[in-house]
This record gives sequence, structure tokens and C-alpha cells, in this order.
Amino acid sequence: MIQFTYSEKAKANKSAVYLFSKSNELQNFTLSKDEISYVDKKLKEEEKFIAINRFTHFIFLHQIAEIEGKSEAAKREKYRGLGAKIAQTLVAHQYSEVWIGNHESNPSASLFVAEGTALAIYQFIKYKSDKKENTLKSILVQTDKNQKAEIAGLQILVEETLRARDWVNEPVSHLDAVEFAKQIKTAAKQNGVACEVLNKKQIETLKMGGLLAVNKGSKTPPTFTILEYKPSKFSNKKPIVLVGKGVVYDTGGLSLKPTAGMDTMKCDMAGAAAVAAGIFAIARNKLPLHVVALIPATDNRPGEIAYTPGDVIHMYDGQTVEVLNTDAEGRMILADALAYAQKYDPEMVLDFATLTGAAAAAIGAYGIVCMGTASEEQKLKMKTAGELAHERLVEFPFWEDYAALIKSDIADMKNIGGPVAGAITAGKFLEKFTKYPWMHFDIAGPAFISANDTYKTKGGTGVGVRLLVEWAKQLTKK
Ligand code: BES
Ligand code: MN
Ligand code: ZN
Repeated sequence: MIQFTYSEKAKANKSAVYLFSKSNELQNFTLSKDEISYVDKKLKEEEKFIAINRFTHFIFLHQIAEIEGKSEAAKREKYRGLGAKIAQTLVAHQYSEVWIGNHESNPSASLFVAEGTALAIYQFIKYKSDKKENTLKSILVQTDKNQKAEIAGLQILVEETLRARDWVNEPVSHLDAVEFAKQIKTAAKQNGVACEVLNKKQIETLKMGGLLAVNKGSKTPPTFTILEYKPSKFSNKKPIVLVGKGVVYDTGGLSLKPTAGMDTMKCDMAGAAAVAAGIFAIARNKLPLHVVALIPATDNRPGEIAYTPGDVIHMYDGQTVEVLNTDAEGRMILADALAYAQKYDPEMVLDFATLTGAAAAAIGAYGIVCMGTASEEQKLKMKTAGELAHERLVEFPFWEDYAALIKSDIADMKNIGGPVAGAITAGKFLEKFTKYPWMHFDIAGPAFISANDTYKTKGGTGVGVRLLVEWAKQLTKK
């Protein structure tokens, strides 16, 4: 894992990143005459990012004059992108260390550059014989003195985002529901979070009909993991409950998915990964918030006794669901978890799920589709955090009209809507299991990407973790 360290000055003969606004600042950077004239030339050509190859190391210069006038959210994202660019060069030349300088105009610029660099060099290579591991291991960061603590926060943010990526990238051959719960429990113990894993018997006793129905086609039992972080002092009167979809693999079940693209359905527990890593990050930051996370987990497979289109399922809260498509399994397991959340009398519930292809089709990987019954104030706080973390939220309409689309002839509801508004009818289904302020985040678009995108690497992105951390930080800011 990459290590961040505070360092006021760059080390001689090691790679360094300098941010500058005006060209007269270049004098501060111990450049040779030739280098200064090279930089001047590049600046005249309107280059903002200049890399000087000194053969034992690189000097990266970035002119930020343009960035300075932008919004805080836009600035942060620019800096992360710059970090990703630097990462490419450092990795290509197999350097192990880089120092990132700050700029007086923005006291935390270097932190965001560092974030982008660290997230960009992530690799998932454990199953390769020839690992070719990236060499970059250490990022030295210059920040304001009072921001030293933020370096520790950055370490946590990156580690937890990458933990989520690792889980999402892990195939079901190595991460079934039982193994996933076991790994969550191990991590919880290490990070000061209480953890209880309910096994199949306990899930049966609780009559979690949705989770059990989806699990019927599987040879592996389901799990229901309960995480709780309750510091000695916290600012919320009632707990905040996170819920994450933990479908460790989604074949579609008897309503089988086509082969093309099915391989990516190992990502169907990305919501669970995000809420687990999210609560760990909140705990490691010692934020004064009482938070619970609920993770229903199973694979969704066809099988002799798999749940079947036409079945009627008795859910945990007693409502009945007519199953018309076994591939709409996420809402079945989330419904039980959302109903279970009621026992905490929550202040607010946030669920994260790779729930619908419709959400991905609507906005792609560029953002998170959200909806729900939380207050405008609560929603605005999430949206602001989404901008700052660049895990942007797009709120979809949630009119009562959509609820009509999931009416069943024979049960309280059916598990699919019509041909339109698939992300919303999925949300309307979930709503029927909530009696508290609630927001639903459909991360089907951004959870798993097919090509690198600046600091987001191909495969699992860890989306949701940085959103949750930013939101929790803003919420607890004094
Ligand atoms: N896990 C999928 C949704 C998904 C799609 C996640 C693409 C990530 C990328 C979900 O369980 C699903 O299959 N949804 C169906 C619902 C439909 C049957 C009503 C869908 O979106 O097609
Ligand atoms: Mn499905
Ligand atoms: Zn699914």
C-alpha cells in the first residue's frame, strides 16, 4: 500500500511536483537555466503541465492559474486528474517516490494531487504469476502545518477506496457470500467496528424471505452482516443506517443473463463493498457519528429449486412479492435489509446498490442515480458531498405515479415495472420497505468500468466510499 508522509521540502534527486500560478514563481524551484527556458517555451505554447526528465527523477510543473478561479469541487477534481497524469509517468519509469508541493492559493491542492496519484496506481494482480507490481510506494506531501492530520485522513480514504475496489474485483470463485462476510468481519475487528454475521439458520429464523428466495438456487448459504460504529460521543440523535447490495454474483437466476457481459456481474456487491469500506473509514477517522451498516449477501443462480418467475415471496416485514423476473434480485435482498433497518429507529437510511441497467443506461458511469424520501436538506448535503468527491449525484423523479407500475394482480407488489423508468420503479419497490427518511443510490453505472479513466482504474472503482467519507466529514465539521 502506498504511504503518505508529510514533508516540507522536496528531496534532492527525487521526483517532485510543483504547482505554480505565475511564471516568476519558477525561480523558487531550483531549475537550471536550460530548464527555465524550456519551461518558458512550453508555457508560450499554452502547455499547463510540463514534465522535465532528469534521468534519475522527474520534475513536474503545473500551472494552475486557470484552475484557481474554479469552484472548490472543480479544483479538487483537476488536482486529482493531475495526480493521475503524474502517476503514469512515474510508474512507466519505475520510480518509487514523489514529493508533491503545495500552492499558497489552495492550502489542500497537494492532498488532492496525492489522492489522484495513489488511486491511479492501483492494480489487481494477485492472480498473475508475473506480477509486475508498480514501484511507486511513497508520496511525500507538503501541506499547511495544520493540515498534517489531513494526510492521515488521506491515507484512510485511499486505503478504504482500494479495499472496496479489491472486493469488487474479486471473482465469486474466491469471494462467495460466506467468504465476503468473513473478510468484512476481519476488517471490522481491525478498525474498531462491531460486527455480527447472521448465518442461514438465523436468516431463516428472522424470515428474511427476499434474501432466502434469491439464495435458493445457490449451493452457498447467504449471510446478513451487521456493522456498527458507536463512538463515545456522537452528534446524531438516532443512528444513520447504511445498506449495501451484496450480490456476490448475479447470473440473473432462472431469468438467465446473456453470456456477453455476465462476467462483470462479480461487481454486483459493489454497494456492500462501499458501505463496509465507508463505515471503516468513518470509524478510522474517529468521526463523531453513530453509524450502522447492513449487508445482505448471496449469489443469484439458476438451479433445481431456484426461485422462479411466478413465485410469491413472503418478505421479512410480512409484505408479499410476486417475482416476475429473477434477475430483479437486488431489490429482493435490499427490501429485507431496509425493513430490518427499522429496528434502529434511524435518523436516515442510505442504500447503495448496483441495482438497474436502466440507471447505467440513463447517465453512464459519470454519476450516481439517486432518489428517495429524505428531506431536501439531507439530500442537498449528499449532493454537495457528491460534487466535492466527484461522485456526482443525479436525482431522479420519484412521483407516486411510478408506484402503479409495480402493482401485482395476486400479491402486494411485483418485482419488476414496465418498459420505462426501470431505475425509478426499482426505487419505488424499495420505498415500500422504508418508514424513515431514506435515500437510494443506484451505482450500476460507475461501479465497474471497462477502461481506465484518470484516477479510476479499469474494473471496480470503489464508488460510494469517497462520497460517504466526504459527506460524513461535512456533517461533523465544527
Ligand atoms: N445487477 C443488475 C444490474 C446491473 C446492470 C448492475 C448493469 C451493473 C451493471 C440487476 O440485478 C439487474 O439484473 N437488474 C435488471 C432488472 C430488471 C430485470 C427489472 C436490469 O436492470 O436489467
Ligand atoms: Mn439481476
Ligand atoms: Zn443484480
